[in-house]
Amino acid sequence: MPLALGVLISGRGSNLMAILDAIDLGKLDASVKVVVSNKANAAGLVRARERGVETVFLDPKSFIQEVNPRESYDSAVCTVLGEHGVECVALAGYMRIVTPVLIRKFPWKILNIHPSLLPAFPGLHAQRQALEWGAKVSGCTVHFVTEGVDEGPIIGQVAVSIVENETVETLSAKILEHEHQLYPRALQLMAEGRIIRENRMVRIHSSQDTLSTVERAGATENCYPDG
Ligand code: GRF
Repeated sequence: MPLALGVLISGRGSNLMAILDAIDLGKLDASVKVVVSNKANAAGLVRARERGVETVFLDPKSFIQEVNPRESYDSAVCTVLGEHGVECVALAGYMRIVTPVLIRKFPWKILNIHPSLLPAFPGLHAQRQALEWGAKVSGCTVHFVTEGVDEGPIIGQVAVSIVENETVETLSAKILEHEHQLYPRALQLMAEGRIIRENRMVRIHSSQDTLSTVERAGATENCYPDG
């Protein structure tokens, strides 16, 4: 059975498209059951519908009267995901902090992609943070979602070098290209049940490799399992 995915977005949805492309190409044994957005105008909603994927916009404003608005919102998200038979949740540019309500409903089944080498530069504007810090290397990280923002156990990472005259735009574009490779691969390992986690440590079952890539002097050393 393909992995039943729910994807949560807030914006343009390029990672969502990469996931759908990987499914169409037979590289990811999954099916996107529903895309949920907290933003009505998220371009990813339109793009998902064009690909025949069901979408739901859940307006955070409808929950502000509740005693615990954030938890109530997540409870509504859980209902939508449950109604669509979702077993694994991919956050893809989802600009909300998820609460324990969602995390407990899908224990170790929620993944996120972040545009830095965590634990460096968590939170917003990770690419800008890396540049302003003077980092020479940055990248992207796929990790499990836990209650701390961008703190969950790391599943896979790709490093890219930061060159002279790098801008937020050039670095973001460079990282995004790798995000589109890394996220579907991580999800495929989830689909195969090959991601083993012990506390913070994650390993890939029956592989000598880790899900990581390092770009070196223009060449890329690829350690993707089976990649
Ligand atoms: C990506 O850079 C992702 O790492 C971050 O938000 C951005 C989302 O882009 N979490 P997109 O909506 O998938 O195009």
